[in-house]
Amino acid sequence: MDVHAAIETRRATRSLDRVEITAGLVRDLAFHARLAPSCSNNQPWRFVFVHDPEKIEAMKPVFNEGNRWCHAASLIVAVFSRKDDDCVVKDREYHQFDTGMATAFLILRATELGLVAHPIAGYSPKKTREVLGIPEEYQVITLVLVGKRSATLSPVLSEKQIEAETTRPERLPFETFAFVNTYGG
Ligand SMILES: Cc1cc2nc3c(=O)[nH]c(=O)nc-3n(C[C@H](O)[C@H](O)[C@H](O)COP(=O)(O)O)c2cc1C
Repeated sequence: MDVHAAIETRRATRSLDRVEITAGLVRDLAFHARLAPSCSNNQPWRFVFVHDPEKIEAMKPVFNEGNRWCHAASLIVAVFSRKDDDCVVKDREYHQFDTGMATAFLILRATELGLVAHPIAGYSPKKTREVLGIPEEYQVITLVLVGKRSATLSPVLSEKQIEAETTRPERLPFETFAFVNTYGG
């Protein structure tokens, strides 16, 4: 699968079947993430790869109500970073940007391997820190839910979420987010 195909194939679907998570898969995803660029090569991203069934169970209270579909994930990747581990250029703090890029690489690699890798913001960072022992100074930026796309709809999805299983949510038109040569151009 080339980059174009991985980008186009990737979807944040929510009906997940279980998939075996091996140490090799965890290392593979981490190794692709670590090749992302970062300011001064600071590599501020940190990940906890959660796949132990008891730990997956312990993570259930972490998710918001609308994210109960996450309970079916086989792997939860907690993504976190802290300001002090990366460039701060005047008012620009780069740790989230660089961690986001590494996470995108991880997601695209998972896609290439035939997996769903779905990032979310609907969780409690506090509870996540408690369950996983992540120190207070780190910002928990996202949780990425990994599994196999299921042909059977998850029973906990809303109408909107059901529609998004088969239809990719619309994107903004080019003119709205992209300009040529000058802002507004
Ligand atoms: C930062 C971020 C937060 C998100 N939070 C949630 C979430 O809490 N629950 C959820 O079901 N999807 C969540 N999503 C998935 C988006 O809804 C999804 O990516 C978007 O609708 C576009 O669909 P697509 O990724 O399949 O193209 C999140 C995605 C990102 C990048």
